[in-house]
Amino acid sequence: MNIFERIEDIRAFSLEGKRNGKTIGFVPTMGCLHKGHFSLMKEAKAKSDVLIVSNFVNPAQFGANNEDYQKYPRMPEQDNALCAENKVDAVFFPGKDEIYPLQNSTWVIEDELSSGLCGRSRPGHFRGVCMVVAKLFNIVLPDIAVFGQKDYQQAKIIEKMVYDLNFPVKIIIAPTVRDNDGLAMSSRNKYLSPEERKKAPTIFESLENAARQFVAGEKRTNEITGEIRLRISQSGAKVDYIEILDAEILKPIDGKTKKVLIAVAAFFGATRLIDNIVVTL
Ligand code: PAF
Repeated sequence: MNIFERIEDIRAFSLEGKRNGKTIGFVPTMGCLHKGHFSLMKEAKAKSDVLIVSNFVNPAQFGANNEDYQKYPRMPEQDNALCAENKVDAVFFPGKDEIYPLQNSTWVIEDELSSGLCGRSRPGHFRGVCMVVAKLFNIVLPDIAVFGQKDYQQAKIIEKMVYDLNFPVKIIIAPTVRDNDGLAMSSRNKYLSPEERKKAPTIFESLENAARQFVAGEKRTNEITGEIRLRISQSGAKVDYIEILDAEILKPIDGKTKKVLIAVAAFFGATRLIDNIVVTL
């Protein structure tokens, strides 16, 4: 497995693959890899010839006061070993100055799908995500890129950015990977105390219950969000948001809605977790 720190080297690697008629699959990550990432890699590997994974903790996407940028878990050696195990062909592991040599004054802003949910709670977050993903697409030149459904809003925003800006990249959204008790895999799960970790599956339990209510015909979204709120609050967590939206446009559901997104963000102690479920009507 190759590990590249410089833009020109990863780009040369990708171009070499293309010259040989290979398709390039790409999984962008911020490292601290877990089973969720491995499933994205598997998906990308199945749909391309050469698999590239980036490992870059992107300072531009951490919200107010840099959130947890400094303490965000970094374990590049372990990550590289895990990439090799998962048949990654090349890891792109740039330093901050390689990606942002100067303070950038150009931004990529998606301002429709980004306005609610995490975009409301974390101002500037999606601007930073779009910025780095656009840069990584221009650097890595992938044919396909895989994102996880756990970050549903992020995946939809990237799809829209790719469409709006004509990036020649196919976006694939892969299902959320969960621990045995239902907790969605996330690098931030590492921050949870043992007590918080025990309570955290309440998020998915309450989402599954909400989906059942929806399927059974309950259309009063206030009733459903109220019950999710109650369950999560009873577990001791602080709700950031609970939203039921049209899964395509991330706006309130109406008669035309075909897929419903039920999305939650909640704080277990200082750790903010997100999760969602999509119900097809
Ligand atoms: O989902 C993530 O890990 C990040 O937001 C991403 C897509 C790698 C951009 O930094």
